[in-house]
Amino acid sequence: MHDVEKTLILIKPDGVRKQLIGEVVSRFEKKGLTVLKLEMMSLSREKAQLHYAEHVGKPFYPPLIDFITSGPLVAMVLEGQRAISVARKMCGATDSALAEAGTIRGDYSIYNNQNVVHSSDSAESATREISIYFG
Ligand code: CMP
Repeated sequence: MHDVEKTLILIKPDGVRKQLIGEVVSRFEKKGLTVLKLEMMSLSREKAQLHYAEHVGKPFYPPLIDFITSGPLVAMVLEGQRAISVARKMCGATDSALAEAGTIRGDYSIYNNQNVVHSSDSAESATREISIYFG
């Protein structure tokens, strides 16, 4: 028996624009992860900067903030055994061009910046990110 974890998933603005909300939620549910919270929202630049604080100074940081605030996104909290690693595996590699077929990024994007989904990378990140999106 493994620990039950919570993780934060975003369907980023490109995923919403591509009409992938149902597809992404469905994949996670079919895998056996439980949707605890789900909300469509437009992210303020302040919250985007909080989320991506670790990337300040990197060349992709300014376009990342512009992109993540460019339209509505869907934030959700998923729960299940090993939810953090399971969800990340289902999302695939950050650079969608390198992501395996069968993963969300591998199937629905070819970019590394507009890559459909975000998935927390650790228990600490999950706690921090859930509080940014859901208070
Ligand atoms: P995400 O999982 O949301 O976390 C940080 C994001 O920065 C990442 O997904 C990508 O969208 C983006 N990112 C990471 N590395 C690069 C890169 N080299 N070029 C452009 N965007 C990047």
